[in-house]
Amino acid sequence: MNKVINVAIDGPAGAGKSTISKAAAAKLGYIYIDTGALYRTVGLNALRKGADVKDAESVVSTLTDDLKIELKFIDGEQRMFLCGEDVSKEIRTPEASMAASAVSAVPEVRKYLFDLQKNLAASNNCIMDGRDIGTVVLPDADVKIFLTASPEARAKRRHLELTEKGIETKYDDVLADMIERDYNDSHRAIAPLKKADDAVLADTSDINLEESIELIISIIEGKI
Ligand code: DC
Repeated sequence: MNKVINVAIDGPAGAGKSTISKAAAAKLGYIYIDTGALYRTVGLNALRKGADVKDAESVVSTLTDDLKIELKFIDGEQRMFLCGEDVSKEIRTPEASMAASAVSAVPEVRKYLFDLQKNLAASNNCIMDGRDIGTVVLPDADVKIFLTASPEARAKRRHLELTEKGIETKYDDVLADMIERDYNDSHRAIAPLKKADDAVLADTSDINLEESIELIISIIEGKI
């Protein structure tokens, strides 16, 4: 079997990782794997089970044997299933975002999702995005990119994205959530958000989506 190509893209919430990675993957003929969706699904499961998502023990108690988290590609789109139910839309609410950030600080949750991510990358040319892909999940990735933008630029984009999806929110709340999540994600003890030493830094604060996609594709093509 030919060696697969793995591209790791990490960065804070709202940097445009998913949109940019998805477009770049489509252009390169790779699959796109959004690992945040896995943490969101674990977070949603914890909320539904009435767990205190800020309490590690309470979160771990929701990782039961009958818990089934599946990532499927339907018409080229990644969809998340929680015990057979398609939760792809529900995991995008602000409550699920906060729950995802909280449960992602629990080592058992990261361990629970590690093999799933590894296995997907081992058998597919892919762009995988997240927070610790270049540092922990795929330390030997062929290309590593740290994609970022200012908190204001990211909050503006996320607010627009939620509004377009029919989820009503205020910009100030989105910005506050963003700053809180950035803090949680980069200060947790396990697998904190940080640029891998060998990752290329890409800042999209002042460039538009098309330019960002071009930038990412040129970084990838320059490395493979
Ligand atoms: O990328 P996102 O906003 O959908 O991610 C949701 C949360 O999951 C985010 O707060 C951080 C966490 N996460 C993580 O810890 N590791 C990853 N590889 C991806 C996401």
